[in-house]
Amino acid sequence: MSLFRRKRKDHWEGIYQRLAPNEVGWHQTFPKMSLKSINRTSVGTGGRIIDVGGGTSSLTRHLLDMGYRDLTVLDISGKSIKKAKLQLGEKSSSTNWIEADITSYEFKEQYDVWHDRAVFHFLTKTEDRKRYIDALNQALNLNGHLIIATFSLDAPPKCSGLPVVRYSPETLQKEFGQNFNPVEIYEEEHVTPSGAVQNFICCRFIKHA
Ligand SMILES: C[S@@+](CC[C@H](N)C(=O)[O-])C[C@H]1O[C@@H](n2cnc3c(N)ncnc32)[C@H](O)[C@@H]1O
Repeated sequence: MSLFRRKRKDHWEGIYQRLAPNEVGWHQTFPKMSLKSINRTSVGTGGRIIDVGGGTSSLTRHLLDMGYRDLTVLDISGKSIKKAKLQLGEKSSSTNWIEADITSYEFKEQYDVWHDRAVFHFLTKTEDRKRYIDALNQALNLNGHLIIATFSLDAPPKCSGLPVVRYSPETLQKEFGQNFNPVEIYEEEHVTPSGAVQNFICCRFIKHA
């Protein structure tokens, strides 16, 4: 593992070591927009959904409660996966868990929905974004949905102490290219547990040939 990736992993392991799931800055009790976007896809409860950088988000629990059966959570942090499994209890065994850095993971499986809230924006290096998009293209089925939320142009320049790239719907579309067709765009204000306001843009794209 490169020194850069090692430091990235150490950063996230440190956060999940120190903070409980409801103390992290990005915590949401109810991931309303993610659930709304997933519900708006044509993917039924048998669809294959991956939450990239899912951390300890409650999204998996809500999706399981809604009847979705084929869920995968990928995260760079083993500690986050351990905590997420603990939160889910027995239900965690029906979910697939992958501890990996998305910029170096080779997918063998394909998915109908790729969900990413607040992960892509941490990729400040062009080559990391290219690797992420290569992985996305490898793993997302044709006509599959990319649901992505990043800091908007109005958001702070850092998230979780790390620099981020902030996006408009246009610059986000440019990153993913013409075969990703935007079908839904909205903004969301997130208030952190310490009261700071972060503005997100959230987009759903459909992948075409
Ligand atoms: C700001 S948190 C968002 C967590 C979750 N998506 C949510 O909305 O609650 C970013 C998450 O991405 C994970 N992460 C950061 N960089 C990553 C990478 N290169 N590959 C995989 N996961 C990563 C972190 O461990 C963390 O769980």
